[in-house]
Amino acid sequence: MLPEVLDAMLPWLSGNHANPSGSYRTAKAARSAIDEARGHVAALLGGEGDEIVFTGSGTESVNTALHSLDRLAGKGKAAVSVIEHSAVLRFVGSRERGVMPLSVGADGRLDLTAFRAACAGAAYVSVMAANNEIGVIQPLAEVLAIAREHGLPVHTDAVQIVGKVPFDVRRERVDMLSASAHKFHGPKGIGVLFVRQGLDFSPLLLGGGQEKGRRSGTENVAAIVATGEAARLAKLALEEGVPERIREMRDSFEKAVLEGVAGCTQNGDPANRLPNTSHLSFDGCDSSGLLILLDEAGVACSAGSACMTGKQKPSHVQLAMGIPEQRAKTSLRFAFSRLNTPDETAEAARKVIEAVGKLRRVQGNGVGPVAVYTS
Ligand SMILES: Cc1ncc(COP(=O)(O)O)c(C=O)c1O
Repeated sequence: MLPEVLDAMLPWLSGNHANPSGSYRTAKAARSAIDEARGHVAALLGGEGDEIVFTGSGTESVNTALHSLDRLAGKGKAAVSVIEHSAVLRFVGSRERGVMPLSVGADGRLDLTAFRAACAGAAYVSVMAANNEIGVIQPLAEVLAIAREHGLPVHTDAVQIVGKVPFDVRRERVDMLSASAHKFHGPKGIGVLFVRQGLDFSPLLLGGGQEKGRRSGTENVAAIVATGEAARLAKLALEEGVPERIREMRDSFEKAVLEGVAGCTQNGDPANRLPNTSHLSFDGCDSSGLLILLDEAGVACSAGSACMTGKQKPSHVQLAMGIPEQRAKTSLRFAFSRLNTPDETAEAARKVIEAVGKLRRVQGNGVGPVAVYTS
């Protein structure tokens, strides 16, 4: 979280504890704080305040959107890309409707010809705006145009793109969008769901009817206010060109590592990707060994997405792109933010080069990653 976001949050944790549904003065203050936050989020996304629903996470937003589409869309399958986050894949996989998997090319971008063909048998579409592992940005404008030709509603998991690249729901004309505050310097455990005005909607959570009946449950006022502040700052950052500064750090890191390490490959479309993400494979280096060495050296990165870390399976995203299993097991994802500095970035690149050298020397001796850690 940005310090300003924490500052905005604290009064709602330590001062005003009112339930925003109350009719007393402090409750009304909490209600207006929520509405103001909703306005900031709407401004970041290009929508209207009443199109914004606060949820408990990006996962909940995704599940809510898909639940609604599942209940209200016409006949046919759920057309989803094979590189979606598990929040999408596991949800549609659990439903009777059936799934139409949408393939991606070697660059990680959706195959639009296959998508067009799939639309004939689909009831609705869910395609992520940007992938969480490789950072590749999907051709969403094309996806939406094709889906519209077929009269299909579209949800996009925009958890990774919101706040990192300008994204306008009105220009893109999406029906539903999911976002998560902790991806744009807000707190964890709070999500955003955009529901286009006039779209039929069926809530996932039923109860007290909060969020205009779209998400029952007493509002997490502090987290909502913090999300509003994070959205306001994210919009300013986009206008001030902060993503460009992040891109420069990412690019200089990547250049240093690609030059300093033989057999290092950058994965995913190099042009159409988030400015903050670098996904690299290191020939012959088991990623779990590298993770241990880099963690020791103070570099926090991940193999696959963070949510997959700890699992040894190569990621479904890399396999879908046709990256061989052996190489997929050597990949790491590095992510940068406005809170990083160019010096840190250069240091991280040096540490990656060192770690790969160390691992290769030891693996060359036939010793595994655990021995590296203890040596
Ligand atoms: C693309 C994508 N979708 C959904 C999620 C889930 O969001 P949350 O962790 O807020 O539930 C994530 C989390 O990293 C993500 O990267």
